[in-house]
Amino acid sequence: MGSSFPFSPPTLLAPMWGVLPAELHHLVAVHQPPGLVCLAFLRVTRTPQRARWFERHLLLASVRPVSVQLLGRDPDQMARAAGILSTAGAAVVDVNLGCPKPSIVRKGTGSALLERPEQVRALLGAMRRTTDCLLSVKLRAGVNDRESALSVACIAEDAGVDFVTLHPRSSGEMFGGTPDWHLVAELKRALRIPVVGNGDTWYAADALRLQRATGCDAVMIGRPALRNPWIFLQLEQLRRGEGVFRPTAADLLGHVDRLATALGRASVERPRGALDLFKEHVTWILRGPTTGQTLLPRAMRAQSVSELCELLRSELEALPPDAFDLGPERA
Ligand SMILES: Cc1cc2nc3c(=O)[nH]c(=O)nc-3n(C[C@H](O)[C@H](O)[C@H](O)COP(=O)(O)O)c2cc1C
Repeated sequence: MGSSFPFSPPTLLAPMWGVLPAELHHLVAVHQPPGLVCLAFLRVTRTPQRARWFERHLLLASVRPVSVQLLGRDPDQMARAAGILSTAGAAVVDVNLGCPKPSIVRKGTGSALLERPEQVRALLGAMRRTTDCLLSVKLRAGVNDRESALSVACIAEDAGVDFVTLHPRSSGEMFGGTPDWHLVAELKRALRIPVVGNGDTWYAADALRLQRATGCDAVMIGRPALRNPWIFLQLEQLRRGEGVFRPTAADLLGHVDRLATALGRASVERPRGALDLFKEHVTWILRGPTTGQTLLPRAMRAQSVSELCELLRSELEALPPDAFDLGPERA
């Protein structure tokens, strides 16, 4: 298990557009770097984009090895972008075949491609020819079904893709319901290339269970790592049968401070303001503490990053470690 995935440890930090800009990855990957850090999608248009724009995105990433995700449907432009990134040092170029956002699906990109297998074949064939680094795809189960992923993943394998990641929900489900781990197992049985499982592994023990239940070669973790940036460390400790680190209030507040400092730096690029982005991270962080839900409305009213830090410090400092639910299993 995990042996054929090309990165070690066999864990990936998920791409999270708008929430985890490239410059912030090191804050989540700090305690135990995942084997691969995946950057959120870059849109590739039909009009050629400047090579420097792609190269700059790669340079912004604060950790290595890094996977850069492309979202688009034009084979020539996607192949060109992948070639640029490959030459610029990306370890992996990933193709977004899963984004469920209506604005993206309407343009025939993201998960819409799950219903256009021949277009996927053309796209990946063209990309393979220009890309020397690894090439991967990230899929949802289907648009409104849970069957499309299997046929599209087989096409990807035929096109020479090196590994496949599946978030086993349909696009229509967005983040509702539960991810169907059986689909990950099915993909694993059908493909020769490595399969990465993803979705709702809120605790390190969940990630281990996903891997053991499906036989997948690696696990991708997204939102749970925003809530608990120690999850990759805890997962490795579980794998090795070691005692598992349990963060204290001071650890969590240290993370909050590092986040606030990074967000305060002018170089951080973000589609929204620093305070909004900080509040989004704090919303994930407050899912843990027992007092989080009562604290959340007050946190959302904060007028500045420093005011919010101060509030968290005064409210969380005195809590015992088990109040944070940041252990390897649900408390
Ligand atoms: C805010 C947000 C942004 C996301 N952006 C991307 C993205 O750019 N590309 C992508 O393939 N998936 C994206 N995803 C999906 C995640 O990578 C991941 O597949 C999903 O959240 C399920 O994994 P998790 O339960 O570990 O978070 C995003 C998810 C969220 C919540």
